[in-house]
Amino acid sequence: MSSALPESPGARHSPAAERNKQPMLEALQALLPPRGRALEIASGSGQHIAHFAAGLPGWHWLASDPSPEARASIAAWWPQGPAALALDVQDADWGLPAGHLPLDLIHCANMLHIAPSSSAKGLFQGASRHLAKTGLLTVYGPFVVPGEPTAPSNLAFDAELRSRNPAWGLRQLDQVLACAQDAGLRLRERIGMPANNLLLVWERQP
Ligand SMILES: C[S@@+](CC[C@H](N)C(=O)[O-])C[C@H]1O[C@@H](n2cnc3c(N)ncnc32)[C@H](O)[C@@H]1O
Repeated sequence: MSSALPESPGARHSPAAERNKQPMLEALQALLPPRGRALEIASGSGQHIAHFAAGLPGWHWLASDPSPEARASIAAWWPQGPAALALDVQDADWGLPAGHLPLDLIHCANMLHIAPSSSAKGLFQGASRHLAKTGLLTVYGPFVVPGEPTAPSNLAFDAELRSRNPAWGLRQLDQVLACAQDAGLRLRERIGMPANNLLLVWERQP
């Protein structure tokens, strides 16, 4: 569970991931049964999955990210884990190994705002294809909640994202919920997290 940067030249370090990995782990520990099969979408540097795999030892984890640089970093942070999949949520076939299915958890942090809005559809449709009957989808990140004030830091982050790529930006929670509902998922819990983030927990509609 060390937070020291691995010596491998491929290792990337995200200060934000270092800050939020423990609150996220504690929320997952409170939600999940002792064991199961999990897929992380958009694993990024790999800091999260290395921490979650150590903190949820009964769980089998698979990492994924479409970026080769991210996959090299994941291998550096989590050398004992299986090779990360080159999974893009918009792919019609996620190419998951049959032995890891169905999934008891799909976890995705900080991806929806840094990808086109259509990625939400890909995420929820994929979750609907691969989650076990009692499986959960957890999505972490900043959202705009209609009717509630948006933190100034999130407004600034949204403007910065849109200036980098007009297709990016914080997602509106009601639109995300509608997209999930179209895929047969209903929101089970909305958990407030540090620094104005949310952890959203979906389950299959009965
Ligand atoms: C801001 S990083 C978040 C990484 C990590 N989850 C975290 O919270 O630190 C966003 C990640 O999303 C990945 N990503 C972008 N578009 C994606 C897509 N369509 N499908 C899957 N991952 C995607 C990127 O490659 C990048 O690693």
